Amino acid sequence: MDCNNKIQVKEEMGVILEVKNLTKKFGGLTAVNDFSFEIKRGDFIGLIGPNGAGKTTVFNLISGFEKPSSGSIRFDGTNITGLRPFKIVNKGIARTFQLVRSFKFLSLLDNVSVSCQSRRGKEASKGVGIDAYASSILAAVGLVDKARIPPVVLPHGDLRKLQIGKALGTNPELLLLDEPFSGLSHEEQQNLTELILRLHEDGLTIFMTGHVLRELMNLVPRVIAMHQGKFIMDGTPQEVANNKIVLEAYLGKGSEEFA
Ligand SMILES: Nc1ncnc2c1ncn2[C@@H]1O[C@H](COP(=O)(O)OP(=O)(O)OP(=O)(O)O)[C@@H](O)[C@H]1O
Ligand SMILES: [Mg+2]
Repeated sequence: MDCNNKIQVKEEMGVILEVKNLTKKFGGLTAVNDFSFEIKRGDFIGLIGPNGAGKTTVFNLISGFEKPSSGSIRFDGTNITGLRPFKIVNKGIARTFQLVRSFKFLSLLDNVSVSCQSRRGKEASKGVGIDAYASSILAAVGLVDKARIPPVVLPHGDLRKLQIGKALGTNPELLLLDEPFSGLSHEEQQNLTELILRLHEDGLTIFMTGHVLRELMNLVPRVIAMHQGKFIMDGTPQEVANNKIVLEAYLGKGSEEFA
């Protein structure tokens, strides 16, 4: 089978993201080491690993914030390896950041409107206009009542929702959420969980990181585990939680991350 035929078969299988032998070196440190996996359209997948495992670097490589040392990334049948972030957004991948980032002094509506100015955002808002489209996104993430206020006054749970709203403004097909639960209270986590589940039910493919497996356990049907930049396994949360290498990786770092 030639290369084009193989790609064709993968697309028919519904593979939306194909990561092959991805490696990222920072000087002498290999943060991501020969890492390969696939995500199918409509998947809802967690990426777990203890602190420093390489999760954020994987997201940075997929979203173009870092360039790989070697390896390839294909999205929706197109090679996106090493493309700049705005080009990757235009292909249909959006992400949130582990540390929340917003335009502090713009209103929530304007924060979301900025990402609606992306090519896909503009296409999606055709007919209704950017403001109405941004407003519908704020409604979807539960922040429409706060559309006119700036993010500086928001509690952390709302800031996390705003990050998701800003990502949705680019009308993505694949959403990467980097540690979305980080710093949230139990109630805020529950609230955000409902939102993420709803987005997935509405058809988004979601790939999210977490270093506390418990947070992802009841949420995602499939988990990819990594440690020291390397792929460990891919399976149900239960299978991953029972894997000896995963257990050792976590217990070595302190079992409270795992519990
Ligand atoms: N820009 C960089 N320059 C040098 N080293 C880096 C850089 N970014 C990440 N690293 C290193 O790469 C390794 C993987 O980091 P990364 O942030 O991807 O891990 P992580 O799994 O997201 O961790 P956490 O759970 O703490 O978010 C770490 O050793 C980190 O210090
Ligand atoms: Mg990280």
